[in-house]
Amino acid sequence: MTKTSLIFDCDPGVDDAIALFLAFAARDEVDLLGVTTVAGNVAAALTARNACILREIAQREDVPVAAGCERPMVRAPIDAGHFHGQTGLGDLPISTPQKGVEAIHGVDFIINAVMSRPSDTVTVAVTGPMTNLAMAMVKEPRLSRRLARIIAMGGARSEGGNITASAEYNIYADPHAAQVVAESGTPLVMMGLDVTHQVRAAARHIDAIAAIGGPVSKACVNLFGFMDRTEKALASGGDAPQHDLCPMAYLLAPTLFTLRPCRMEVETSSPLTSGHTAVDFRHRDSPQPHIKWAISADADGIFALLTDHLSR
Ligand code: RIB
Ligand code: CA
Repeated sequence: MTKTSLIFDCDPGVDDAIALFLAFAARDEVDLLGVTTVAGNVAAALTARNACILREIAQREDVPVAAGCERPMVRAPIDAGHFHGQTGLGDLPISTPQKGVEAIHGVDFIINAVMSRPSDTVTVAVTGPMTNLAMAMVKEPRLSRRLARIIAMGGARSEGGNITASAEYNIYADPHAAQVVAESGTPLVMMGLDVTHQVRAAARHIDAIAAIGGPVSKACVNLFGFMDRTEKALASGGDAPQHDLCPMAYLLAPTLFTLRPCRMEVETSSPLTSGHTAVDFRHRDSPQPHIKWAISADADGIFALLTDHLSR
């Protein structure tokens, strides 16, 4: 089985962390070319440090981490510290990682990694604001045609927003970047709140991961505990949705999801609805057949996939 060449762009972030642990564990299926980080949940310096900490816990220092953009393309930065804690990793014990980031900027890392490989061989998973990917597309116009596909966590259609009434955080934090990516023509799978709200970490899921033992399992249980308390105190009051796990789970097991082809446009100017993803299933033969919107997921199957990989 040929491995998927993957660049994982993220803003860790407690739920990004769970997804990164899955990516680090998927050695058999994924050639993880690198992790690029961006300002989002917390400042860029923290998301970069956090990616290095998670990489060390997973003992994957073979994977380079490159720090990317420190602010969105146009709008002012907005963080999500209330859901991720001051460090960005909840109350996970923080230590300075042995290995730091690469000297190269995350945007240039993406460009170099994609343009140095044959067309249609590199996938990008994005679980934060899409600033790095959009800036890479602007700097290297050939990138969007060279990429195999993008699998992104972001947006909302039926679920409404989670940072404003009509916008999900990743898109709201950099709507112009999301617009650039949506218009790029690269095959795009969107994991919006419509599907991520179906993937919530229940006690039985967390118990199965706790039973694995070891540093990654322990870190995941700590992170799930923080997310559970935050979700119950500040959001739905239920189990914590695992937004960022969805793109990685889809990459490894696409049959766990149901997708629909769509047109997707991003609001970038209205103060009231900026960051809204206007997802229209009606124009399937539109000039944008390259976008697919996830509408359902097998949550138990996703957590079983995570548990299986973390047990390896
Ligand atoms: O809306 C959910 C997204 O915002 C996730 O990527 C989470 O990490 C936060 O960045
Ligand atoms: Ca994220």
